[in-house]
Amino acid sequence: MTSSTAQTDWWRSAVIYQVYPRSFADSNGDGLGDLPGITSRLPRLAELGIDAVWLSPFYTSPQKDAGYDVADYCDVDPIFGTLDDFDHLRAESAKLGLRLIVDLVPNHTSSAHPWFEAAVAAGPGSDERARYLFRDGKGANGELPPNNWQSNFGGPAWTRLTGTDGTPEQWYLHLFDTSQPDLDWTNPWVHEQFREILRFWLRRGVDGFRVDVAHGLVKKVGLPDYFPPPPSPDPHANDLARVDIPFWAQPGVHDIYRDWHRVLQEFGTDRILCAEAWVEPLTRLAEWVRPDEMEQTFNFTFLEAGWSAPSIRSSIVDSLAAFGAVGAPSTWVLSNHDVIRHASRFGLENPRAHRTGIGPRTEPRPDAALGLRRARAATLLMLALPGSAYLYQGEELGLPEVIDLPDGARQDPTFFRTNGANYGRDGCRVPIPWEAAAPAFGFSPSGKSWLPQPTEWAEFARDREERTEGSTLKLYRLALSTRARHDLGNGDLEWLDGYGDGVLAFRNGEVIVVANVGQAIAELPHGELVATSEPIIGSALPPDTTAWLVARD
Ligand code: GLC
Ligand code: CA
Repeated sequence: MTSSTAQTDWWRSAVIYQVYPRSFADSNGDGLGDLPGITSRLPRLAELGIDAVWLSPFYTSPQKDAGYDVADYCDVDPIFGTLDDFDHLRAESAKLGLRLIVDLVPNHTSSAHPWFEAAVAAGPGSDERARYLFRDGKGANGELPPNNWQSNFGGPAWTRLTGTDGTPEQWYLHLFDTSQPDLDWTNPWVHEQFREILRFWLRRGVDGFRVDVAHGLVKKVGLPDYFPPPPSPDPHANDLARVDIPFWAQPGVHDIYRDWHRVLQEFGTDRILCAEAWVEPLTRLAEWVRPDEMEQTFNFTFLEAGWSAPSIRSSIVDSLAAFGAVGAPSTWVLSNHDVIRHASRFGLENPRAHRTGIGPRTEPRPDAALGLRRARAATLLMLALPGSAYLYQGEELGLPEVIDLPDGARQDPTFFRTNGANYGRDGCRVPIPWEAAAPAFGFSPSGKSWLPQPTEWAEFARDREERTEGSTLKLYRLALSTRARHDLGNGDLEWLDGYGDGVLAFRNGEVIVVANVGQAIAELPHGELVATSEPIIGSALPPDTTAWLVARD
């Protein structure tokens, strides 16, 4: 492939919109979003100006982790619809010119997957058990877990089985919930199953896969204990470059992605893999997107840069350098279904704190107005960057995190596994508002909603924002159309200096971008203002505001 054709690959510059199926649109009134609901709203996404949709899991699942616990990788859970509904969704999205990416969850299955049920039934030493990470316990009677690893959702990462006669049995590994047993990726059988799962969806016409926990599939040989380094003021103290974590970023994962790369190539050259890999530093993360592996990886360094000009700038500089060095585009993302919505995150005293969620007892609460203002400025900055950008449903409405969910409504396993100490992620998963005056704000015809929507969400409803000058929806539309017109996603970034500390300024093609992350007013250069995150008078750019200008010369 020549470099000029490489530059036109759709995914190098695509804006990809994440749909979280259970919270997007409910067609049948049961209070849970579904595939026909998504299909009915696709025209709204097309007119927003995105290029592709990523669907979080809609597969057969007991929904212990909102579908990231898969019991059948090749079917649709009845709560979301049928395979025919999927085919219809995919056909309609293609008609609208939207690509479609689905989620792949290869690190673990559901404990209700027939593979795991067979493994439990077959007993120690069987082929079925060898598909997962079963081990005997330590201690005189195997009463201690095989190692000291902790689950990401809190508590031990091992659970002991009990035999049918009531006697304690082997332990199995689950880096997440007990209902999510980890597969053993040293087993060729597992590889073969996933090649076929990829082909199943590729044949159904998907344009790619977002790969869940793409840094976790391979564990260090012998499953050694892990002793994290002591807490350090250095935010990068846990960089995988310095610490060998036996369950993350083990070198063997790359063989899997090279293999999948070849599977995708059986279907042409424009299907993609995007890694969800929480790996630092960026130079290490870039290993996921070497030319014979994946096409994209989420760039969480940018998401976690906080509201500070030097750290945002260095995350951009380091990203472009690290991904550029392997010939990959950078991705950019500010929100998803696992993090505090950025309209609230940027209103926290420290946007980098509270990684485990916020709720009624969180003090101080985010400053909602400041958070939204900074979120709009951050998005306008993000959408001017070369590379591919990911949006999370509802951010185009400026939706905040829902803080006041009652304990009884919460569903995230994080909340239960920490006895409520960590609120978890339900606050960013509340069903989104479409019409201010409709039941459940248009989410569901019956007015039901699997998580309660705040009454104030009428003001964020899409129909209301359609009619409101200066709404966040209008800002997103303007930014996306201007980004497309100037082809910013395929552009090059040239930093401009002299705007003062606290200001990020750069040029991407004809567009000059000035983001005021500091506290003083900044002076805009000459040029035609084409987008601003807040109304601007004259050439004064207030704090927490981003502007795009087209140079007149
Ligand atoms: C990823 C998903 C998250 C899920 C976890 C386990 O981080 O984004 O939602 O809980 O993997 O599958
Ligand atoms: Ca439904």
